[in-house]
Amino acid sequence: MLIALLPGDGIGPEVIAEARRVLDSLAIPDLQFETAVVGGAAYKAKGHPLPPETLDLAKRADAILFGAVGDPDCDKLDRHLRPEQAILGLRKELNLFANLRPAKLFPELADASALRPEVATQIDMVIIRELNGDVYFGEKGMRKTASGLREGYDVMSYNEDEVRRIARVGFETARARKGKLCSVDKANVLETSQLWRDVVIETHAEFADIELSHMYVDNAAMQLVRNPGQFDVIVTGNLFGDILSDQASMCAGSIGMLPSASLDANQKGLYEPIHGSAPDIAGQGKANPLATILSAAMMLRYSLNQAAIADRIEAAVAKALANGARSPDLGGKMSTREMGDAVLAAF
Ligand code: IPM
Ligand code: MG
Repeated sequence: MLIALLPGDGIGPEVIAEARRVLDSLAIPDLQFETAVVGGAAYKAKGHPLPPETLDLAKRADAILFGAVGDPDCDKLDRHLRPEQAILGLRKELNLFANLRPAKLFPELADASALRPEVATQIDMVIIRELNGDVYFGEKGMRKTASGLREGYDVMSYNEDEVRRIARVGFETARARKGKLCSVDKANVLETSQLWRDVVIETHAEFADIELSHMYVDNAAMQLVRNPGQFDVIVTGNLFGDILSDQASMCAGSIGMLPSASLDANQKGLYEPIHGSAPDIAGQGKANPLATILSAAMMLRYSLNQAAIADRIEAAVAKALANGARSPDLGGKMSTREMGDAVLAAF
């Protein structure tokens, strides 16, 4: 099994290093690693955020463990050369259309949540975010209006096949959990969302055992804070899923805790923490590596058929937290390395 390690920018290399230490300590047979540059680091080294060698490695690998991309030095570059294009390019080139973002509160972190503990402890959901369409990939550009004003535009669209395949992932995920799927859209305003809602309702016919509900995205943002325990599985588009998953992470303790899996139709996947490259704290040992360590566990479960080892990693993270491991985002003082040590010690 070949794992592509793509550390990327900012805190990416620090958090990937800890996930690598955890994977190495488990002595999983036949696991090989190859590392490649991606994002701003790749632009600086090779002139492109997703160089051909990196894309080739990602295609050859059985799974990809990704850190983060984003570098303020690159903010002035043409958009196609910016670090973020690397992750968008990987998602598109590898057909990674289904993004699973589980948000669950570790009980030990009830006081780290932005919500009252009795509300926060109820959180146990998966956000299924579509990753290959929406405003992210529509026609975009800058133009001048008739009166000469600068105007930016990004076209939002989904076709019915794109909606159907992510809806199925949503229904199947709900079936393996509590059987409740909430589809989030903005059908009261957007045609894209009306199509989304129509297709989700049609697809429901294949999954009659699942309880389906619909929610407008503004209401969903409010309900996530008011009563997050009502959600089991949320399925939504690329942009709404980006926003709601950051919000859910803070409800569940910290953005430093949430892993994610981006899967194609054959369970090949890219695994990454949902947080970004955090350039403000890069290189200072302040980053929480747990989201990346938990992403490695998801990789073992979904792409490498090693569920038992994934369980052990998740249990070790829970134990490390129970033993008091706290990085700054969790209200503590432990360094990235010490957080990794705490997980290793918990095995
Ligand atoms: C995420 C990130 C990315 C996104 C950025 C880095 C392009 O915010 O994975 O949530 O918007 O999808
Ligand atoms: Mg995001």
